[in-house]
Amino acid sequence: MIDNNLDFDVALYPYELVTYGETGTVFQNWMQYRLIKQYLEKMTDRQTLVVESGHPLGLFRSHEWSPRVIITNALMVGMFDNPEDCEIAEEMGVANYGQMTAGGWMYIGPQGIVHGTYNTLLNAGRLKLGTGSNEDLRGRLFVSSGLGGMSGAQGKAIEIAGGVGVIAEVDPSRIRTRHEQGWVGRVSQNLDEVFDIAKSFIKKIHPVSIAYIGNVVDLLEYIVKKGINVDLLSDQTSCHAPYDGGYCPQGISFEERTRLLETDRGRFKTLVDRSLKRHFELIKALVGRGTYFFDYGNSFMKAVYDAGVTEISKNGIDEKDGFIFPSYVEDIMGPMLFDYGYGPFRWVCLSGMTEDLRKTDKAAMECIDPERRVQDRDNYVWIREAESNRLVVGTKARILYQDAAGRVKTALKFNDMVRNRAVGPIMLGRDHHDTGGTDSPFRETSNIKDGSNVMADMATQCFAGNAARGMTMVSLHNGGGVGIGKAINGGFGLLLDGREETDEIIKTASMWDVMGGVARRAWARNENSIRTCAEYNIENRGTDHITIPFLADEDLVKKTVAGALKTGKTQ
Ligand SMILES: NC(=O)c1ccc[n+]([C@@H]2O[C@H](COP(=O)([O-])OP(=O)(O)OC[C@H]3O[C@@H](n4cnc5c(N)ncnc54)[C@H](O)[C@@H]3O)[C@@H](O)[C@H]2O)c1
Repeated sequence: MIDNNLDFDVALYPYELVTYGETGTVFQNWMQYRLIKQYLEKMTDRQTLVVESGHPLGLFRSHEWSPRVIITNALMVGMFDNPEDCEIAEEMGVANYGQMTAGGWMYIGPQGIVHGTYNTLLNAGRLKLGTGSNEDLRGRLFVSSGLGGMSGAQGKAIEIAGGVGVIAEVDPSRIRTRHEQGWVGRVSQNLDEVFDIAKSFIKKIHPVSIAYIGNVVDLLEYIVKKGINVDLLSDQTSCHAPYDGGYCPQGISFEERTRLLETDRGRFKTLVDRSLKRHFELIKALVGRGTYFFDYGNSFMKAVYDAGVTEISKNGIDEKDGFIFPSYVEDIMGPMLFDYGYGPFRWVCLSGMTEDLRKTDKAAMECIDPERRVQDRDNYVWIREAESNRLVVGTKARILYQDAAGRVKTALKFNDMVRNRAVGPIMLGRDHHDTGGTDSPFRETSNIKDGSNVMADMATQCFAGNAARGMTMVSLHNGGGVGIGKAINGGFGLLLDGREETDEIIKTASMWDVMGGVARRAWARNENSIRTCAEYNIENRGTDHITIPFLADEDLVKKTVAGALKTGKTQ
């Protein structure tokens, strides 16, 4: 899993140990890599390796059911929990920014996000454009930016969803990679040409993704000036770290951006702020014309706010009540997926054999009832088409946004296949971008409205509960996806080795990993989670029980309070 994270076909800057997200590192340095590899080679199944921000603290006695590896990354004490102090800690060699799956050794290339993006786009269409539950995005235009580690999924996802996508990218080398992989269909640096292609594909109702070599702000200027109709709009530049090179300002080339980063950080910041302000104005203009804009988990709105645009905050004062544009989780992914427990379940065929992946794809498809819910139908189509979409980069892996019961059912089937030697051993895991593993008020938990989105109890409990139930490796990080101090997120890996004991771990740990999150969402009064938990309580009577909130009648409460205030009587 470590070497897959650092594979040259997978990692963003493998020499620097960066897997994705501009700064998401597996370890701090190569010495840590070597020591950890050594420990892993010699350790027994009665020991646990402890890794603190990339540093292998050592091997400690544990037992067979304990995790073999426990990883934490950049967990800072509250008063130092900010990017500046973290950078100092990084310079002192004590902190590692592991993003999510980079430091958690569970990255599988942008395939992981293709499925999430595909789901987001399809459901955005259903919720905002009125496409039917059996329809896709045929004839619709999606515009965004970034063709890097994660953002590189956008072109592929819009094509699989049947629509037309235009994605701006300032770094030509990233475009070359995505084009060679077949993840973007067309490339141009001429905006007239870009939109001639887009219009012709919209007209003939054919999917296509077009990479625009240039700055997203220039792309939006053109769209606004020409009055082009955009259905869905987003952004996936690395805005969790805009001043560290994650966001290239309008007006300078990619090379100049790199040079300025080294020579004049102050000027670079001024240019970023100016560009973000213009970016915001252009989005506002398009939204005014009916485009649906959503923040795609890159802290874009926070970056705009930090650039000095208070207008983007909902309360016009600070960011505590969120922003005027929805985050994709707030509007789409939260209510449609996370609240039910659907999340980025994944598996890696450790044999490295295509045949194993093919067998597991088929087995996973057999575990889905496409008639159950619209999400299951999307999953069914996804896994049926997965091989032909040629999504695998690096080790043979697959992503499938399953819910708790679906994950358990699929995992049990896979473990049985391993037991019967139909396939080699399999590593199960997930991205941290999930129902239960991540507390991130600007992203995963942005649709939690009971005030608890400022807490990190859920991610911590998820991590501890997974360790207690015997996951093979567990990890907990600061800041993944959105930046230090803005999130706590955790992940896991579970080795399917065919043993009966592993079935028990699947039934307890995999179920907990998801349902702990659905339960918290239910307690926050999220409607779909309440329903899911009520069903869970019936199906698991005698073993599990989730506390269900009592929903008070708002009008009755208001009337009673108003009445009591009037008469001065409380009961
Ligand atoms: N939505 C999700 O599920 C999800 C998952 C993981 C990461 N993310 C977040 O998405 C962001 C992107 O992640 P990534 O792994 O692709 O990062 P990345 O740094 O690999 O890619 C971002 C790309 O944006 C390009 N870019 C920067 N400024 C630009 C501009 N003004 N115009 C055009 N292109 C520009 C960069 O050249 C780069 O290739 C990060 O903030 C990350 O934290 C979101």
